[in-house]
Amino acid sequence: MNAVPRFAATATGAPTPAMLAAWDRDGVLVIEDAVSHADCDSLIERSRAIVDDWDPTSGAAVFSTTAPRHAADRYFRESGDAIRVFLEDGAVDADGTLTRPKHAAVNKLGHAMHDLDPVFDRVSRRPTLAALACGLGLADPRLVQSMVIWKPPSIGGAVTCHQDATFLITDPPSVIGFWLALEDADAGNGCLFVIPGGHRGPLRQRFHEVGGELVTEALDSTPFDESATVPLPAPKGTLVVLHGTLPHGSAPNTSERSRMAYTLHAVDGAARWSAGNWLQRASDIPFHGFERSA
Ligand code: FE2
Repeated sequence: MNAVPRFAATATGAPTPAMLAAWDRDGVLVIEDAVSHADCDSLIERSRAIVDDWDPTSGAAVFSTTAPRHAADRYFRESGDAIRVFLEDGAVDADGTLTRPKHAAVNKLGHAMHDLDPVFDRVSRRPTLAALACGLGLADPRLVQSMVIWKPPSIGGAVTCHQDATFLITDPPSVIGFWLALEDADAGNGCLFVIPGGHRGPLRQRFHEVGGELVTEALDSTPFDESATVPLPAPKGTLVVLHGTLPHGSAPNTSERSRMAYTLHAVDGAARWSAGNWLQRASDIPFHGFERSA
């Protein structure tokens, strides 16, 4: 098993030579205490308030990576410049009615938290994160997608092994994922797993629009090396940075503890954003970098 090193956050956020070497070798960086517990709590509080204000009869979508039937759902497709609530697969009956209280049923919030909510905007655009993104090679970072992964107790769904570049396509490929533990994540409540070094493998799939439909197109049949998978337990405030082609996922949360995480994805503005990406912005809400004023 290839252990993934852990790093302390630097004062400026800029990566050290040792961090850059790990990034090149592993395609993943684990940075402990990157974000304060107070900021994590602020994001949790805002997330709960968003769900408090949300009417579950207003057109919810069930999100599942094992059965992507949401793909044709406008609720999903029009969430690239909105904040929408998505539900766990097992939390809705055949009629679409919630089988549990809404806070216990959420799969995720997405996908423009960082542009539309002032608290998410502030935490997402922290100077240390900008310095980190720049240091990892994003010359002109654009923040394109944000999500709160809810992972509620007992029914939080698995996220199957995937590469983020499957879903956020630029030419050349440029996406980097920032995954922040808002609560302690461990093997018991469905922490991340990764295949260190797997970013040097090919991109396996592309999820994009073809003829008006969102499809998953096979690009390369090389299987993920499941034997090389390692869990990444992450105490609250830990930031995990994921190369766009690094295979990763998470197990279901079968525990009695929640496992909330915040994810932010950035691409290079110098790379061409694919017109086929599922995530498209209206012209009045373009992608911004880290320095956009709210
Ligand atoms: Fe991912």
